[in-house]
Amino acid sequence: MSKEQIRQSDRRRTFGIISHPDAGKTTLTEQLLLLGGLIREAGDVRARKTKRYATSDWMAIEKERGISVTSSVMQFEHHGRIVNLLDTPGHHDFSEDTYRVLTAVDSALMVIDSVKGVETQTHKLMEVCRMRTTPILTFINKMDREGRDPLELLDDIETSLNIDAVPLSWPIGAGARFQGTYDLQHRVLHLMDRDAPIPMPDLNSPDLDRLLGSAADDLRYDAELLSEAGTDFSVDAYLAGTQTPVLFGSALDGFGVPQLLDTFVEIAPPPSPRDTTTRAVSPHETTFSGVVFKIQANMDPRHRDRMAFFRMCSGKYEPGMWVRHGRTDQTFRLANAMAFMAQGREGTDEAWPGDIIGIPNHGTLRIGDTLTAQEPLQFTGIPSFAPEHFQKARIKNALRAKHMEKGLQHLVEEGAIQMFRPLVNTDYILGAVGPLQFEVVKERLRNEYNVEAIMSSMTYAGARWVESDDEESLREFTRKQANNLARDVDGSLVYMAPSMWWLNDTVDKWKTLTFRSTKEHVFG
Ligand code: G4P
Repeated sequence: MSKEQIRQSDRRRTFGIISHPDAGKTTLTEQLLLLGGLIREAGDVRARKTKRYATSDWMAIEKERGISVTSSVMQFEHHGRIVNLLDTPGHHDFSEDTYRVLTAVDSALMVIDSVKGVETQTHKLMEVCRMRTTPILTFINKMDREGRDPLELLDDIETSLNIDAVPLSWPIGAGARFQGTYDLQHRVLHLMDRDAPIPMPDLNSPDLDRLLGSAADDLRYDAELLSEAGTDFSVDAYLAGTQTPVLFGSALDGFGVPQLLDTFVEIAPPPSPRDTTTRAVSPHETTFSGVVFKIQANMDPRHRDRMAFFRMCSGKYEPGMWVRHGRTDQTFRLANAMAFMAQGREGTDEAWPGDIIGIPNHGTLRIGDTLTAQEPLQFTGIPSFAPEHFQKARIKNALRAKHMEKGLQHLVEEGAIQMFRPLVNTDYILGAVGPLQFEVVKERLRNEYNVEAIMSSMTYAGARWVESDDEESLREFTRKQANNLARDVDGSLVYMAPSMWWLNDTVDKWKTLTFRSTKEHVFG
């Protein structure tokens, strides 16, 4: 441990935004970057966001890799903290990528559309946060629209996401009548038409009527109701993932965003110890370690290079340092890795726990890989999620079969798709969390491997990784269910369920076996 190590890791705040598409993630990101001084005017980020719903658009995004890589991790300084904002793909078809990004954050910001409330994608992402007990701060956006009643929105969060929602601010009116918010903690008014906050320790003050008109009584009534019925905000409950503090605002106007950022750097957790297969690694340890959580390909299509996104877990990264690659037990030099640095930050290209480094490579690094200075470690907690959509991939020209196999192997390693080989035949079954992934794979096989794949849909309802210590049962299961079994690229056994009923029935019948909907990336 060194003082500098503790100081640097404790000032990091690494987070991602979870939201349903269109709730306002891009708009909010942009406002945060404005405040952080990373961009100068609104429009920079939104201009990059294309209509994301077709493959051609996705390919267009691919072509602009340069931009998307540098914008995947955004670092800025606020109130002496170094904030790392990790971008997550907006389209739900790429949610597996989003899930993996969430394994690299220490907290999350949940954006909810005040008109729509909690939506499906928010649900799923929340479940992922729950797997790691990731603390969640909530921003209820679009208060400038006629949305749902704020109390109803809190209730929606509590009941559908099963977490206590505690407002830190309260909206004054909504839609055309939205005037601003009242900071319940610091007892300060933030009004749309005033630049400076107005202290308002006593809501019974006649000043409130003067400032808010008839909305003053509504605020008094709501504040009374909240203090009688509501739970008090507790940082510990937030950090334990049982409570989410809620702020209201309008990202489009940037309203409520400064308070959100101030609150975030005040309460969000710094990097905490991370589990490995052998021990927990503290960010205060001075020896370098970290884990690859995402691979981005096609930085330059001619060279098949990939960027591995690496989360620092301990020690300090310095350019040119030697590291040990846990899975292959080889050492190599981190020669041209890049640290994502805050604009204007002085000094060398260094990174500390909580920071993300981009490591260009030609396929050496895979999702879940650990790099350390010396001790052989393997970080855990980077899962694959059971696919929900399946397609069979065949090749048009048999002479290109080897190329297709290689291409698929690469795409699997990048996490673009999952692949299964049935026990009873030589098919390639592709599994995806979102159907658009198939389109992307087909397109990339064509462009990068010169392979024309024919995809046909399959009717599986789901897949589960099957494990057991009881080898006898496992053998019997393999024999009886061979037609519905496959192996993934690591050789793990996977049950492919013809229907949900079938799946439940099988799980019920084979009590000695464990059926998993997630699988850890652990090697060796
Ligand atoms: P996303 O990344 O979560 O998908 O959402 P994004 O920020 O792109 O916002 C989705 C739409 O919601 C955009 O409108 C955006 O302008 C709007 N929006 C975001 N925040 C607010 C807000 O606080 N108030 C209001 N009224 N609207 C908001 P769009 O019509 O799809 O795009 P554009 O025409 O504005 O570019």
